[in-house]
Amino acid sequence: MVTIEKMKTRHLAGVITLSVVEEQKKFVGSIEDILANANAQIRPHVILVEDTIVGFFLIDTTYAKNYDFARQSNSIGLRSFFISKEHQGKGYAKQAILALPNYLREAYPNHLNTFLTVNCQNLIAKELYLKGGFQDTNTLYHGGAAGPQHIMVRSIESGIKAANQ
Ligand SMILES: CC(C)(COP(=O)(O)OP(=O)(O)OC[C@H]1O[C@@H](n2cnc3c(N)ncnc32)[C@H](O)[C@@H]1OP(=O)(O)O)[C@@H](O)C(=O)NCCC(=O)NCCS
Repeated sequence: MVTIEKMKTRHLAGVITLSVVEEQKKFVGSIEDILANANAQIRPHVILVEDTIVGFFLIDTTYAKNYDFARQSNSIGLRSFFISKEHQGKGYAKQAILALPNYLREAYPNHLNTFLTVNCQNLIAKELYLKGGFQDTNTLYHGGAAGPQHIMVRSIESGIKAANQ
């Protein structure tokens, strides 16, 4: 069973071994680069199967301040979500995305929506987010290095309706 936890110091040795395959690197980059973005407001998280770290993501509490499209409500950002290459294709991403709203409701109770951007070429990830209850806002973000990205949103509260739609 997949669980989500805030990354702790004890996770570091496992986290630095996580990586995606070469052709996926344009979507998330290396774990070293991702960790360089982490701080007290941009919190690293691990995706665990029992005691094994299989994936990672950032929860960005500064998202509403930094991205115009997320400004309307008290939103957080899901960033750098990935499953390490040796653990892909086993259903772990789907389980993690489905577990996310409950986790965020508890861990970040002052926030209403989760926003993310996903590269337009990244069809597998976009489908995954749709299956996890994210909605395509039908607007594109052009600030990414690897081309346009879909902006997606999911309500943390109800899991059904996005508060700013
Ligand atoms: C996208 C990603 C997180 C999916 O992780 P995963 O654990 O392999 O996904 P799952 O096994 O949970 O599969 C989820 C769905 O995607 C489908 N899928 C996964 N990998 C696939 C592939 N290579 N080809 C086709 N479909 C695929 C699965 O069939 C499943 O669909 P279903 O729900 O209809 O059965 C993973 O490929 C990844 O880390 N990619 C690189 C980083 C990235 O792009 N992150 C998103 C940034 S916005």
